Amino acid sequence: MRIAVLKEGAPGERRVAAVPETVKKFIALGAEVAVESGAGVAASYADADYAAAGAGIASRAEALNGADIVLGVQGPDPASLTGVKAGAWLAAGLNPFGERARVDAYAALGIEALAMEFMPRITRAQSMDILSSQSNLSGYKAVLDAAAEYDRAFPMMMTAAGTVSAAKLFVMGVGVAGLQAIATGRRLGAQVSATDVRSATREQILSLGAKPIFVENVKGIEGEGSGGYATEMSEEYQKAQAELVSGHIAKQDIVITTALIPGRPAPRLISDAQIATMRPGSVIVDLAVEAGGNVEGAVAGEVVVRHGVKIVGHRNVPSRLATDSSALFARNLYNFLSAFWDKDAGKPVLDEEIGDAIRLTQGGKVVNARLLA
Ligand code: NAI
Repeated sequence: MRIAVLKEGAPGERRVAAVPETVKKFIALGAEVAVESGAGVAASYADADYAAAGAGIASRAEALNGADIVLGVQGPDPASLTGVKAGAWLAAGLNPFGERARVDAYAALGIEALAMEFMPRITRAQSMDILSSQSNLSGYKAVLDAAAEYDRAFPMMMTAAGTVSAAKLFVMGVGVAGLQAIATGRRLGAQVSATDVRSATREQILSLGAKPIFVENVKGIEGEGSGGYATEMSEEYQKAQAELVSGHIAKQDIVITTALIPGRPAPRLISDAQIATMRPGSVIVDLAVEAGGNVEGAVAGEVVVRHGVKIVGHRNVPSRLATDSSALFARNLYNFLSAFWDKDAGKPVLDEEIGDAIRLTQGGKVVNARLLA
């Protein structure tokens, strides 16, 4: 069983899909690991550390030659996979809806592409969930990015020269990233409030010491669909939410938006007119910018200024914390493969529930129900 770890090719991607610790663990399972030279450098993992953990350091072609499992953070360019054997697995974040042509190309190569972001949200798969591990770090980093752009302090400070008031921070979308943003904002001393369409988040917001801001008495308030994800809300709800949020946003210094709906564009939560009501120098961080954006005027990969308000739209926020995000991503992959490791076969054998959920291609065809629907 040979595992290949690729150097990421996407612009700005600093993460790596295995770290020395997980290499060691794969080897303990009986696998042989080949790491493409330089794969971990941008995340501060040196070739020598992988070698010390027992990996072979190889060129891409050497790493792929004979590989049974190929690991990546993002899906590699199919053209760079030539030479990989038919039936080999590719486990990575494959962005199946956004990169559909690639999925077809993986099928044509005869490989089995496994999309880690399609991991079902079930208890036993929690430790394999790349969306959670990466979102948690994004939520944290979003607050630090906001603090860096903000020309005032977060905590209240009483000094001999006068008092600095605490920043007011509003988190929109209280999933994994939003919860971490609340916790981080609180640690920095901000006054934090938060909202979500899922009413179950109210308790979570309170338990982190923040103030819940919720639309009351509107039909369809639960907002929760399968797997704990949000559903699209009724027009009535959206209108009530926009009104509530308008009044609140005008008083905020920092807004972090994280709202996503799987398989659909991100919901628009903040309009240009609402931005105009904020005090100049305020900062908005749109973590959903790559999914279409929660904030009008947000631009992926840029910090833009509208009405004196900075709108931060960094791409690939987890990659901005590449050492930790790689370590967690790598553990997700290890937890996944080791959970299914069949000792007798010396390789992982997937069960139906998880296999069918994440497998995109097999036997030269696209086989995933979500892509065929
Ligand atoms: P997500 O990244 O899909 O969305 C972020 C947040 O935005 C969600 O809380 C969503 O409800 C909210 N949102 C969507 N539309 C909105 C709108 N119009 N206004 C305000 N908020 C809006 O969500 P994430 O972080 O993936 O978590 C979703 C749920 O799944 C959570 O309950 C989480 O605890 C659960 N979960 C379960 C796992 C497991 O059991 N294995 C693993 C990870 C998360």
